[in-house]
Amino acid sequence: MPKHKIAPSLLAADFTRLSEEVEMVNCSEADWLHLDVMDGRFVPNITFGMFIVEAVRRLCTKPLDVHLMIVEPERYVEAFRKAGADVITVHYEACPHLHRVVHQIKETGALAGVALNPHTPVSVLENLLEDIDLVCLMSVNPGFGGQKFIYQTLPKVRRLREMLTVANSPALIEVDGGVGLQNAEVLLRAGADVLVAGSSVFGAPDPQATIATMKALNETWL
Ligand code: DX5
Ligand code: ZN
Repeated sequence: MPKHKIAPSLLAADFTRLSEEVEMVNCSEADWLHLDVMDGRFVPNITFGMFIVEAVRRLCTKPLDVHLMIVEPERYVEAFRKAGADVITVHYEACPHLHRVVHQIKETGALAGVALNPHTPVSVLENLLEDIDLVCLMSVNPGFGGQKFIYQTLPKVRRLREMLTVANSPALIEVDGGVGLQNAEVLLRAGADVLVAGSSVFGAPDPQATIATMKALNETWL
């Protein structure tokens, strides 16, 4: 079984110490750095755009996993790629022409991700599985860090894992929202490949140790 990835979400970092926080991630066992772009329209909150992504790109040695919680993401795909995104994830709920956007992302050379809100069933991706590199299952309603994990996500992870196995798809399953040491193991056992963790990492007394513990999880099952 390939080892899972840990993607700390910068949203929970202290932005007055941005370079130190990114350096903590650089020196940790984290695989990716997750960046949450919010526009105040698709979600109620506003965070940052490509200007900050580009600055973080210069600080960060790990791949950037850019989660676009914005309407009409097709208008900004190239700009975020140019700013340094390695993975670009758009929301199913924001894209009436999702197939086109997924291929637009792939043409830039980035990995293409599709995120599903907690109420959106995984079955909507049935006819797109072979085109996607990553499916991000939201385990909170997107918009804010520090929310409580929605447990209905767990059967969605299992169901998606079955769908990917049947389709012989190498797409990664990412889980985003309310993920921490209390549920990481059960998510990995259900079939998750990438765990996004914001407050559980940046709010921990020792963020690097928390990342290392999450990263070591399936080794402890052996
Ligand atoms: C929520 C964002 C998440 C958020 C996760 O809309 O997509 O990536 O940063 O934060 P935690 O891990 O604190 O729930
Ligand atoms: Zn996110």
